[in-house]
Amino acid sequence: MTAIPALPPVARSVAELRRIVAEWRAAGHKVALVPTMGALHDGHLALVREAQRHADKVVVSIFVNPIQFGPNEDFDAYPRTLDADRAALATVGAALVYAPTVGEMYPEGFATTISVTGVSEGLCGATRPGHFSGVATVVTKLLLQAQPDAACFGEKDYQQLQVIRRFVRDLDIPVEIVGVPTVREADGLARSSRNAYLSVEERAAAPALHRTLSDTAAAIRAGAAVDAALEAGRRAILAAGFVSVDYLELRAAEGLAPLAALDRPARLLVAARIGKTRLIDNIPVEGA
Ligand code: PAJ
Repeated sequence: MTAIPALPPVARSVAELRRIVAEWRAAGHKVALVPTMGALHDGHLALVREAQRHADKVVVSIFVNPIQFGPNEDFDAYPRTLDADRAALATVGAALVYAPTVGEMYPEGFATTISVTGVSEGLCGATRPGHFSGVATVVTKLLLQAQPDAACFGEKDYQQLQVIRRFVRDLDIPVEIVGVPTVREADGLARSSRNAYLSVEERAAAPALHRTLSDTAAAIRAGAAVDAALEAGRRAILAAGFVSVDYLELRAAEGLAPLAALDRPARLLVAARIGKTRLIDNIPVEGA
């Protein structure tokens, strides 16, 4: 019989989080943070496992951050599953869940925004105005609240990872930012809390996104003209049943500058809508 692992405790306030982290520090432990919005899946759990390679104690924050959602986005509908999340985190040995309330995070009078130019622009920044400043603001707060040695983020949200690396460098925040490869379903679909929104038919069509990324990357690697390959990719995504393609672009892996040719390590990034759900994905494209 295997013992049921103990549920990680939940800190609800900055003061409680700081008290626990201070105790760990006094005992000589290293601390890592994994920021999430909950509805945890294997992708999040991979971040926790990676975090454990960098620290003795892993804090997982669960906070559906209102300021990174647009007015017509899914803030209210976003799944909130704290009990199931704690049970999943127990299986990977997370030391603490930090689940502040909106009032704790943004008290009356809150007036500060962290905004990042350059890497925040274009791609998801074009279709989700204000999104990355919402992310940068909350991640800055989480890093200052927990003061971890390391923090782990998924390559699944590649532009977000680039934005975070940028402001951490720019603001001299003393933390190691660790990127973790995307965890996928067997059919290639990137794990995402938003996959829960998909109907059976949409779920069946959704792997076309990753398939198209792979095919487009292969074509570009084989020497196809980038513009033509991207256009063929957009058509393939629509043909598979997506209603629109927000973007399919080849960008520099570092800094996300648009690329017309594969002249440096690159990333192919996509966002497309299937039914009412917007899915994103990306893969690396290395030169031949
Ligand atoms: P959320 O979408 O919950 O994702 C939390 C972290 O899990 C992010 O770093 C994301 O890139 C990573 N992740 C999600 N799906 C993944 C997958 N399939 N494989 C690997 N990693 C994956 O991203 C956010 O929350 C928020 O913007 C946040 C950073 C918490 C700020 O509010």
